[in-house]
Amino acid sequence: MTDSSFTIDAHIEPGADVDAIKLEMVRALTSTPKKLTPKWLYDDRGSELFDEITKLTEYYPTEAERSILAERAKDIAEITGADTLVELGSGTSDKTRTLLDAFWDRGLLRRFVPFDVSEATLIEAAAMLAERYNGLDVHAVVGDFNQHLPKLPAEGRRMIAFLGSTIGNFHVEERRAFLGALADTLEAGEWLLLGADLVKDVDRIVKAYNDDAGITRDFTLNVLEVLNREFDGNLPIDNFDFVPLWDPTEERIDIRLRAATPCVARFDALDLDINFGEGEELRVEVSTKFRREGITAELADAGFEVAEFWTADGPSGTDEADFSLILARRV
Ligand code: SAH
Ligand code: TRP
Repeated sequence: MTDSSFTIDAHIEPGADVDAIKLEMVRALTSTPKKLTPKWLYDDRGSELFDEITKLTEYYPTEAERSILAERAKDIAEITGADTLVELGSGTSDKTRTLLDAFWDRGLLRRFVPFDVSEATLIEAAAMLAERYNGLDVHAVVGDFNQHLPKLPAEGRRMIAFLGSTIGNFHVEERRAFLGALADTLEAGEWLLLGADLVKDVDRIVKAYNDDAGITRDFTLNVLEVLNREFDGNLPIDNFDFVPLWDPTEERIDIRLRAATPCVARFDALDLDINFGEGEELRVEVSTKFRREGITAELADAGFEVAEFWTADGPSGTDEADFSLILARRV
């Protein structure tokens, strides 16, 4: 390996697991209500649109998390002493550079393991990082964090970063399973750095998922293009409305696509015909907002002890914290 190169492990190989993926999709589209797993949002176009979302003024989580990272990156390097940084759902690893810089400057960093389902985004990020940190072992992994955590490289003293409040995109039971799998992956004394968005003023939350420029709408509707392309389908995309809802009981944004008029779609690759009634919804993704006590307890149940719970301030004039960055130790 030359100094500025990276390696890549692909656990989602073209053609692999095709039957399992098809079965999962048939189940999702024939369940009541119809629903999807969020990973389908992030094809090349979806990943680009998500990157645009992170730059919207309404979408406060990215800047809030970035500000905490900027303030605390040195502390994180010092407290953990980690020499291996793993990042799940790494996307462009843009904010992560703040962390990498702090670890690098302390001379601690040996290895970076970005892990994502979106291969193109991952390759671009890995190449850029290998260039920027000369001599760093960049070991990219293409995988699904719901299935492939056991395949993470085990070398080094690790910290796993899971940023962007992607933890909020799981449903309660999936989140429990995910945190448990994460705990199983780590040895006692290794670390988790978790970015979790907090419950706050509802209008502000809702605007973050329903921006004026309509980028979030485009991002969400793009998932129908992905389904049509991946499974030879003919969903009439224009017939679907973007419906972002706030669920006050679950304290989460619940994003759905709603059929304006009754329609049918054929998916040749799934040998499946599906019907949408008028107003019938396809559930695309939730984005749960957390409270300190709740997430701390969930982490404890999974085997993590919270060492630091940092927050970003909300807009001036409010005393609500905006976003949290949690450093937790595997016990
Ligand atoms: N960490 C970045 C990106 C967050 S968007 C940030 O904080 O801005 C969520 C990322 O998780 C995307 O890059 C998406 O491709 C990835 N992702 C979504 N579902 C995934 C899955 N099941 N397994 C692995 N990566 C996934
Ligand atoms: N992890 C991001 C979040 O929960 C993902 C996201 C942002 C998202 N905007 C979205 C997912 C719109 C679906 C639709 O904030």
